[in-house]
Amino acid sequence: MFEKVDALKEELNKATAITQEELEQYRMRFISRKSVIADLFNDFKNVPNDQKKGFGAALNDLKTLAQEKFEKLIDGLSSDNDENDENIDLTLPPLPGTLGSLHPLSKVRNRIIQIFERIGFNVSDGPEIEDDWHNFTALNFPPNHPAREMQDTFFIHKGKDRVDDDQDILLRTHTSNVQIRLMQHTKPPIRSIMPGRVFRNEAISARAHCIFHQVEGLYVDTNVSFKDLKDTLYHFAKEMFDKDLKIRFRPSYFPFTEPSAEIDISCLICKGDGCNICKYTGWVEIAGSGMVDPNVLENCGIDSEKYTGFAFGMGIERIAMLKYGTNDLRLFTENDVRFLSQFKGVI
Ligand code: PHE
Repeated sequence: MFEKVDALKEELNKATAITQEELEQYRMRFISRKSVIADLFNDFKNVPNDQKKGFGAALNDLKTLAQEKFEKLIDGLSSDNDENDENIDLTLPPLPGTLGSLHPLSKVRNRIIQIFERIGFNVSDGPEIEDDWHNFTALNFPPNHPAREMQDTFFIHKGKDRVDDDQDILLRTHTSNVQIRLMQHTKPPIRSIMPGRVFRNEAISARAHCIFHQVEGLYVDTNVSFKDLKDTLYHFAKEMFDKDLKIRFRPSYFPFTEPSAEIDISCLICKGDGCNICKYTGWVEIAGSGMVDPNVLENCGIDSEKYTGFAFGMGIERIAMLKYGTNDLRLFTENDVRFLSQFKGVI
């Protein structure tokens, strides 16, 4: 009996388990209810009484030993699995790293800048927190123009006396304030575009947001005509979207331009046949534009007898929606990686 115990001790000391099957074999032989050790326990009743004590102790030792060895074998197997399992194929290529990309609005802004830089425009910048004069008054907004009403403009500080008092401090509602600042400090010729963030007190929906981006353009020189405006924006639309698209100028009104026109392009989705993007008209609006009102030139100290100019402004979100077929403006600010990752590699 005792020899049997010793033999088993030796056997389990030597036991190894490299695979899961070998581990299971060990468990069956030494741990399970049908193991050799369990058999010995069953035989216990046949042991002569005077040897029972010593044999019982030896059996219990053996059982503990078998259990400890089993745990060691499990440990060995799982750490082996982690580090150098034969099943790992080291020739497989690694998972690609997740690299970010430019935000779609940055891509569109950069492209707009690139198109205009190539035809001689530079880029100007101005403040987002502005006074009433640069945002409204200098741009020929009559004192009670609806755009000055609280529902459109975020006022930071309201002057006491007059509505158009330059004590009024606000978040700019358009990038036209940069036009004013530029004309105040630069002698014509001026040929510049002004990308930037603008703010309007509007409810957020699929088509409107209280914070969005514009690019405005200004060209002031002697003999600048409406034809120059048309040529420039035709060029832009064809470069930005599609060489074959159609463009139309629709008469409109802005306080700071005269005459004014809104610019439509033929719908890129239905090619002019009519769809819900173009509201079945075949046309979508991309920009406002016009010849700079002489009053605006004079407000900035530019001689309106000598100089003329054109200006235009467009929403970057709108251009991006048309370019990428996005139907909800809010997607641009929600930072959902599933949306943003679609723009990897897209120009
Ligand atoms: N500032 C106008 C707007 O925000 C756009 C515009 C700019 C229109 C320049 C005409 C000329 O709606």
